[in-house]
Amino acid sequence: MLTIALTKGRILKETLPLLEQVGITPEEDIAASRKLVFATNRSDVRLVILRGSDVPTFVQFGTADVGVSGKDVIMEHGGNGFYEPLDLKIARCRLMTATVKGRDDINARLRVATKYVNIARHYYAEQGRQVELIKLYGAMELAPIMELADEIVDIVDTGNTLKANGLEARETIADISSRLIVNKASMKLNHAPIQQLISDLAAVV
Ligand code: PRP
Repeated sequence: MLTIALTKGRILKETLPLLEQVGITPEEDIAASRKLVFATNRSDVRLVILRGSDVPTFVQFGTADVGVSGKDVIMEHGGNGFYEPLDLKIARCRLMTATVKGRDDINARLRVATKYVNIARHYYAEQGRQVELIKLYGAMELAPIMELADEIVDIVDTGNTLKANGLEARETIADISSRLIVNKASMKLNHAPIQQLISDLAAVV
């Protein structure tokens, strides 16, 4: 049995057509169900639907053999325990710093609010900038407006969310897209079907 962990939401919507093109379709409408585990047309493949930030963890521990995860989430997780053999080129966006439009950095020691604390720690350290990190779980855009922080580190797609809140993007930390990730032990033990899945997906990406 091959267990594939998928990220619910926008990534899922873009992943299902890819899986369909390689001959894997869920037995029922995932969007219309509260279930978390789904059988597929292939008796040897099942899907589990997770929060994005949990996909690398399930694959790291081999609970899922394979996963589809945003590069942002993979970077924040650190990537231990799995390979990242394929860029699926879906859910593309950028991970950026942002702040209030027109605001200059006045503080020597920046306060940065983000859910990507590991990425942010690494990014600012590389630049030799001292920052105080504040972990948030959503609505990061509020932090600079309400003066909880000087900057945020967040995903920017259309830029509409920043604009609607009077913010502007500053620096790009990374270009993001979703990646296929594979548990290291599964890659050895279940080599043939996983290698087939990777090459089939590579052909349709
Ligand atoms: C992301 C991100 C921004 C928004 C950017 O949030 O945190 O808020 O999308 O997209 P835009 O540039 O097209 O406006 P998402 O809607 O994924 O929800 P989340 O905060 O739960 O991650």
